[in-house]
Amino acid sequence: MKDESPHTGNHIVVTGGAGFLGSHLCRALLARGDRVTAIDNLSTGRRAAVENLMAHPHFTLRTADVTTPGAFDDLATITHIAHLACPGSPKATVRRPTDTLRTASTGTLAALDLAASRDARIVVASGPEIDGDLRNTGQAGDFHIHRLCTLLAEIIARHYGGVDVGIVRPFEVYGPHQWPGDGRVAATICAAALRDQTLQVIDGDMRSFVYIADTVDALVAMLDSTMTGPVDIGGPTAVTTAEFARTAVALAGSGWVEIAPADIIAPTTAHSPDLDRTHALLGWRPSTPLGNGLRYTLDWMRTILSPYPP
Ligand SMILES: NC(=O)c1ccc[n+]([C@@H]2O[C@H](COP(=O)([O-])OP(=O)(O)OC[C@H]3O[C@@H](n4cnc5c(N)ncnc54)[C@H](O)[C@@H]3O)[C@@H](O)[C@H]2O)c1
Repeated sequence: MKDESPHTGNHIVVTGGAGFLGSHLCRALLARGDRVTAIDNLSTGRRAAVENLMAHPHFTLRTADVTTPGAFDDLATITHIAHLACPGSPKATVRRPTDTLRTASTGTLAALDLAASRDARIVVASGPEIDGDLRNTGQAGDFHIHRLCTLLAEIIARHYGGVDVGIVRPFEVYGPHQWPGDGRVAATICAAALRDQTLQVIDGDMRSFVYIADTVDALVAMLDSTMTGPVDIGGPTAVTTAEFARTAVALAGSGWVEIAPADIIAPTTAHSPDLDRTHALLGWRPSTPLGNGLRYTLDWMRTILSPYPP
């Protein structure tokens, strides 16, 4: 791939670089002229998400586990780290609880050690569930371990000391390269709509859906800043999951929304992001309307669900 972009002089390590957030972030950083090293053990991420970056002269994918010695060797020139290595889906966390706990603890410490040794800025992904009230929720058993991992990463980042650290809390991010089947609400809804299936959503479940491109803009702003945060990354308006699903059904032209009573599984992400604070700290606000973001997401998902992708 011919390199025509101006160089920023940045060399950014993206842990979890083959994941949903990480792959989009790698693409955005390369586009503005950064050098990027993605480090990923491909446990929930896929090489396919970064396949079209592999030939870029400033991109390297290192297949390694951030909890193992050597994962961060030979990175003398780095200026920034985006630490996104950790399963984004509670379902994936529950499947591999010990690995995820190790990633959230040992992996986050290793990333912070790297930042300290290279005098690099590090941005660590936390999540909104850190503030959630999990009492009386039917999901608590499954969700608890995911929340614990998020908490661990954030607390370690907050208290490590002596590094230039920023903490971000993305809310319900959706967009292309969020694979159906990993249990995340947006991808599950989009896939079910395209397959003309019934979409069962929980009555009253309210989330802050934020499109991936907006999320990446916020991550880049956080990398470029000196803010500690934590900063919330949420969508332009809070919507019910039912509204999200109805919009997906309308755009897909297929599927059917069924509302399940809230006592089956209670809402877990009822609180809203503080976007005024994020704007004050980073000058960022989400700008992608739900209809547009869902259209782009469905367009991508059609290509992977179709047996004959274009
Ligand atoms: N997507 C969201 O809506 C959302 C919301 C809040 C917080 N977050 C947080 O953002 C981060 C990234 O989320 P995502 O949606 O991209 O998740 P993802 O599961 O799509 O990506 C995580 C990536 O990390 C990799 N990984 C996991 N353990 C690793 C290890 N030990 N060593 C190296 N690589 C490892 C996976 O293979 C995957 O590519 C996570 O910490 C997640 O909790 C995401």
